[in-house]
Parts: sequence; structure tokens; C-alpha cells
Amino acid sequence: MVSIKWDGNQLQLLDQRLLPHTEKWLRIRSVQDAASAIKNMIVRGAPAIAITAAYGMALAVKSGFDRNKAHQLLLNARPTAVNLQWALERIKPIDDAQVCAEAEAIHHEDLHINQAIGHHGAKLLSGGVLTICNTGALATSGHGTALGMIRSAHDCGQDIHVYALETRPYLQGARLTAFECLKEAIPCTLITDGMAGALLKSGRISAAVAGCDRVARNGDTANKIGTYQLAILCRHHNIPFHIAMPWSTWDPNCPTGNSIPIEQRPSEEVRTILGNPIAPDGVEVWNPSFDVTPAELVTSWITETGICHPPFSPPA
Ligand code: MRU
Repeated sequence: MVSIKWDGNQLQLLDQRLLPHTEKWLRIRSVQDAASAIKNMIVRGAPAIAITAAYGMALAVKSGFDRNKAHQLLLNARPTAVNLQWALERIKPIDDAQVCAEAEAIHHEDLHINQAIGHHGAKLLSGGVLTICNTGALATSGHGTALGMIRSAHDCGQDIHVYALETRPYLQGARLTAFECLKEAIPCTLITDGMAGALLKSGRISAAVAGCDRVARNGDTANKIGTYQLAILCRHHNIPFHIAMPWSTWDPNCPTGNSIPIEQRPSEEVRTILGNPIAPDGVEVWNPSFDVTPAELVTSWITETGICHPPFSPPA
């Protein structure tokens, strides 16, 4: 399963807003289209955002769009996932003639990174595994990070059962993780976010695993809203809580989680479900898209180079 297609000239994105019931590919014709696809969550998930930004720069170069303006446009599309900045910084020093090849390299490398994370992480999982948001093939070049660990474990014949948190308000768990699991026959049960405590208490879960959007130098980890309370619940129930972390998501320039920018999303995402009003018009809403889990609540970070703990030393 993929959500990003590039044929050397044209970029297409699977419109993730319409999943699971409609599979529609959108042609992304310009860097402006790429920035708005990221902002409006046609594409989402830190690695997929980074790949789209890299192809956005390739589209900018092809059309003669000012590279500095293109860089800024893409950088401003979403603030929390540092992978976006990482991809743009990687493209920055590259000659125009090589930008397309560099974007393709970012795309292809991501798949290997996911598979390596899956390989290292699969051995940490067995039985019931609780996860949040969508960190699978749709959020990456394919395979996935946290869901990639689950996928690898399943592919190796391990007896895995995914419990997917629905992940209000954007419902990445209900719409996307459940969709991926069903497509690949990975046993999966969907629960609402408020059921996590009862499920952990029930004894059915042996580990929780989540992805990340930015990990501070000390290991504080920003991820989808709800991850922090999941980590607290896991600590209370003495259940390991793992983070799948490509090195491109580690930000040594953020000393702690306090300096991670947290995206605020539109109030309508909370007042409505898939466009249907569920709350009184005009009620005040707080809608941070991410929260920060303190490093001390994380059991381990699974990277493409192995299982890590702070202080981190990334590969050279
Ligand atoms: O708002 P989203 O859907 O882009 O948030 C995605 C997440 O929080 C993921 O856990 C994270 O980006 C890792 S995806 C491999």
C-alpha cells in the first residue's frame, strides 16, 4: 500500500481525507499544491510529509519557481513534524539538476528505514499491541514505523493483535490504521480513545507503540494528541511504551519537549465529525494536534539502527 506516487515528472497523492471509503488519487501540479496538500492533510504522517515536501521542491525547480520561496512555503505548511524541515534542509544545498534525484532518494530511503525499524522492533511485540494514530504505509513511503513494527511482526508469523485507538479528532486510527490492518489481514480491534485505560487493565495488552513527529535531544517525544495520556496509562499498568523513531525525527536543536512547536488545528475538527456537527455552534474549542510525552515515560525508541535510549548518538 502506498500514498505517494512519483513517475519522474508527476506527483500523485492518495487523498487521505476520504479514506477508508473512497480511494481517490490527486495530481499535485505545483509547489503550492504540495504545500496545501500537507496543510490540509491530504497527505499526513511525518515521513510522508517530508517526502511530499521534497517532491514539492522538485516541482518548484521544474517550473522555475523561486527556491527560497518554495522552501518557506513548504516549511510553513505544518509546524510540528521536524521531518519536513529535515527534508528541506537536505534539498537546500543540492544543484537544480539534482533536486529531483535527491527527492527520489529521500523517498526510497524511507522504505528501507521503515523496514529496518520493523526488523528491530518486531521482537518487542507479542499478543495484544495498542497503537495510536496512523503510522503505517499511508504515513510513510510504505510499511510504516510503529505500524511497521507490527506489520513486520505479523509478516514473521508472530501472533499479533492490534488494538487501534480511533484518535479523535481526525480519526487516523479508525479511518486509516483499521483500513491498513484489514487490507493486510492483520488482526485488529478498534476502540475509542476513552477505552484505553480499561483495555490496559483487562490484561489483553502486552505493549503499546506509537510514532513520533519530533523527539527532543533529551527524548521528550511529540506525537499525536492522546499519546501522552496513553504513556501515563501504560506506566500505571506496568506495560512497555515504545516509540518508533526514524533518525530524521530526532531534533538535537530542541533541548527538551518545551521547545517543540505544537500545531493548533481548526476548531471545526472538534465541533464536527467528518463534517457533521456534534457540538453547539460557537462552543469554544482547544485543538492541539500533538502532545509531548516526557522521556521518562518511554521504554525505548526504535530507530533504523537499533533500539536506543537518551542520550542519543545518531549514525554519522
Ligand atoms: O496529524 P498527523 O496525522 O500528520 O499526525 C501523525 C502522527 O502523529 C504520527 O504518529 C507521526 O507523524 C508518525 S507517522 C509514521
